[in-house]
Amino acid sequence: MTALTTLGQFIIEKQADFPYAKGELSRLLRDIGIAAKIVNREVNKAGLMDILGDAGSINIQGESQKKLDVFANEQFISALKSGGECCVVVSEENDEYLYIDSEISKDAKYIVAMDPLDGSSNIDVNVSVGTIFSIFRRKSKAGEATMEDALQKGIDQVAAGYIIYGSSTMLVYTTGKGVNGFTLDPSIGEFCLSHPNMTIPEDGYIYSINEGYYTHFPDGVKKYIKYCQVEDVATQRPYTSRYTGSMVADLHRNMIKGGIFIYPITAQAPNGKLRLVYECNPMAFIIEQAGGFASNGYQRILTLDVTELHQRSAIFIGSANMVKQAEEMMKCFS
Ligand code: AHG
Ligand code: MN
Ligand code: MN
Repeated sequence: MTALTTLGQFIIEKQADFPYAKGELSRLLRDIGIAAKIVNREVNKAGLMDILGDAGSINIQGESQKKLDVFANEQFISALKSGGECCVVVSEENDEYLYIDSEISKDAKYIVAMDPLDGSSNIDVNVSVGTIFSIFRRKSKAGEATMEDALQKGIDQVAAGYIIYGSSTMLVYTTGKGVNGFTLDPSIGEFCLSHPNMTIPEDGYIYSINEGYYTHFPDGVKKYIKYCQVEDVATQRPYTSRYTGSMVADLHRNMIKGGIFIYPITAQAPNGKLRLVYECNPMAFIIEQAGGFASNGYQRILTLDVTELHQRSAIFIGSANMVKQAEEMMKCFS
């Protein structure tokens, strides 16, 4: 029988790879893993809300029920606060960045940006959701952290990961030395290494985009979609279309099977919909570490300037050859 490697063991084994603050980044990742298990428990109970009380209603203990994205936000922030390794949290759920002004955290070395619950509309219909996180070193030396700490380029991430609450729950992360995936074994309550050294195929046969907005897409995207749909035996087209409404779920599938996920600019969302800091950058870091590529259609996502916490970006991400081809079409037709 092969021995299991838990997330905790793996993080400790790999911490020699970190160039600095080895124990601190390990603890931070461990804190995120703990919060993920608590969020997983609540996500699994979501279908019972009708029996136990809807979000916004009062539960049996007299406490009001929280929406799951608010709950997830609170759990991750609370784990990061008590862990003491993170001084700033940037979250989709908070308008401003949160400086953790406690004795143990105020001089901590790390910044965490996160989307606590990605694809939250899927909760109502029992379809996969996720969490995305991105980790940076703080730039300021000590004292109150600054906006400059919070607004760092994707290329400066020291770690990033996602959790997919799917038919099983997985945590996938990188510290810049490849990508590893861990599946939660509910019987022992541990994330166990199940997908070591994850790589994304260079070519893929799946495209994931909300085609309902087709009329509002730029010409380059329309051309690429048509390319995916045209019959051609040599390139195994037409490709398959898959789209769940959770970027984490769609990218997780495409990472394993090969494929491209696109959320372009549209007439309604002229800068794109997805957020650069806590959706596009961490997923771009992970996918590049797995051998794929991520672009806004013209430029590598990880090199984009970050000027606002909730800045949006178009994104083309996945198998390297597919993204390069979509980029070519953007350049030629848009
Ligand atoms: P969130 O639930 O964090 O707001 O993110 C939802 C995002 C992303 O995960 C998904 O791919 C996209 O929004 C879906 O948007 P459309 O419904 O416009 O396709
Ligand atoms: Mn999201
Ligand atoms: Mn979200």
